[in-house]
Amino acid sequence: MKLKDWVRENRAVFVDRDLRFLVKDVFLDDNVLLLQQDKYLSLGKLQHLDRIKQLYIQGMPLAYILGKEIFFGLEFKVNSRVLIPRKETELIVEKTIEIINKNNLYYILDLCCGCGNIAISIKKSIKKKLFICGSDVSFEALALSRRNSDIYKTSIELVNADLLKAFKARTFDLIVSNPPYVESKNIKSSLRYEPRLALEAGEKGLNLLREILSEAHIYLRNSGYLILEMGYNHKSFLAQIINEIGLYEIVEWIKDYSGHFRGVVLEKL
Ligand SMILES: C[S@@+](CC[C@H](N)C(=O)[O-])C[C@H]1O[C@@H](n2cnc3c(N)ncnc32)[C@H](O)[C@@H]1O
Repeated sequence: MKLKDWVRENRAVFVDRDLRFLVKDVFLDDNVLLLQQDKYLSLGKLQHLDRIKQLYIQGMPLAYILGKEIFFGLEFKVNSRVLIPRKETELIVEKTIEIINKNNLYYILDLCCGCGNIAISIKKSIKKKLFICGSDVSFEALALSRRNSDIYKTSIELVNADLLKAFKARTFDLIVSNPPYVESKNIKSSLRYEPRLALEAGEKGLNLLREILSEAHIYLRNSGYLILEMGYNHKSFLAQIINEIGLYEIVEWIKDYSGHFRGVVLEKL
């Protein structure tokens, strides 16, 4: 069977981006074009693609099937013990890099680092010297962060910690975090494949965001920055919490590609 015939037959099964990623991955070739290809599929490759298709039809995200995801132009190893890096988080990384460069910041913490995608993307994108620490409560997540940071030869300190508790007297110029923020009732469909630990944050999805906001100022240097990702419906709740705490100035809200507010940049007062 030719690749283009397999693609034609299975176009309706896959999301377009997934189909492209899959074909590139199977052929180990970034330049494989889906339909123009007259390549023949070996029996091994055909069986491999069909096996992947079966898992995909059952609802398993392609990133878990292939064990990798592209984030900020880099390929990260992932497995079912970590969240699959998302597009909207790239906006948080972009903003963080901008703030680091503009303010010449050095000492950075990626809180709730998962597979290390935020910390590593920042480190790879900034040419000047930068100290980055990644922390997570999950040992499996930290093991993947280590693996990814080894692949990219980025030296990142990794700390096992329940939010900020392990940091005691340490302070940072900037803390960036994509913490769990999904409402318990919304963990369904493909999210069921991802670890609850990486997603769930109580009835309103605010438990961890609230805790980070109430503690991060202790771990920030004067005029340090806190950058948080949040759910699309969290802006007014967070604005209220930030106002109640009274220790941060809101620098800006970050919008995603669909115009939803998905993050906030705060400066410690
Ligand atoms: C939404 S995922 C973010 C992963 C990654 N930073 C990203 O952007 O794709 C949240 C991460 O927080 C971790 N986590 C959950 N509860 C935590 C806690 N109490 N303290 C530290 N990390 C926690 C999870 O293990 C998970 O890796």
